Amino acid sequence: MITVFGSINMDLIATTERLPEPGETVTGTSFTTAPGGKGANQTLAARRAGSEVAMVGAVGSDEFATPATALLAEAGVDLSCLKTTDGPTGTAMILVGGDGENVIVINAAANGTLTEDDALAAVERMSPGDLLMLQLEVPAPAIRAALHAARKKGVTSVLNTAPLTPEAAELGALADIVIANETEFERLVGAEELGSEGRIAMLKTHHDKTGQTMVITLGGDGVIAMHEGAFFRIDALKIDPVDTVGAGDTFCGYLASGLEQGLSFEAAAHRASVAGALACLKPGAQPSIPTADEVKARL
Ligand code: RIB
Ligand code: NA
Repeated sequence: MITVFGSINMDLIATTERLPEPGETVTGTSFTTAPGGKGANQTLAARRAGSEVAMVGAVGSDEFATPATALLAEAGVDLSCLKTTDGPTGTAMILVGGDGENVIVINAAANGTLTEDDALAAVERMSPGDLLMLQLEVPAPAIRAALHAARKKGVTSVLNTAPLTPEAAELGALADIVIANETEFERLVGAEELGSEGRIAMLKTHHDKTGQTMVITLGGDGVIAMHEGAFFRIDALKIDPVDTVGAGDTFCGYLASGLEQGLSFEAAAHRASVAGALACLKPGAQPSIPTADEVKARL
């Protein structure tokens, strides 16, 4: 069983041939809304990968509250511990350029109301051996409380250090498994511009020192990781990205699900990497998360 404690957003997505410079107006090529938020996206990915998943988070009382969780409800995610607040639901304004690259502005709104007590209640319902997944889109005190409680209870914690926040390094140190991109990894270990060899050396040093499973996602260059004393490198599936939004979340959800389902670390990471690549082939975050069968066909 997986519990995700994290964010829920409504994504407002405009596509354009070229992202605007500051002060510039450009003409868009499409506008859509879709459910998103790193917590909710990772929840749906773990569910589509085949796990039983509960999500603990918050929505507002506005017109976005229901559509933001619609795909989670449809997929059979346990939403019984969602909190409804008086204000708005979290939003992400996303601009996607012609090359599939994006810029995002998030407004935490309801996500920002999650407290230490909410976090403790989430872990309270879990059993030893369960897996708790977190990201950095909800308040740091709540994440910190969840990580401490998980450790005390014998729950395995997985922290995706996205988006990068000032507390990333401190919170990262409290998790059993960390999933970071290259910039986040540098922040976690207090290094800069490591380069590929320096990164591998630092990854090994960090693992030897902490024993923590550390997974570094490198986009089109795949994934490197240290887990239980062993180094892993997984090459990325070669694709032509349409929209990378949701790819990282798909990877995280699939990795957690694979580990929870008892796959070897290498098999779980390989499957997660293929799933993440497939999420780049469709627009939007949640609508682009592949099913387990779609991923299996590309393994
Ligand atoms: O990781 C992608 C997500 O980041 C989007 O769904 C958006 O909501 C932002 O939080
Ligand atoms: Na996508």
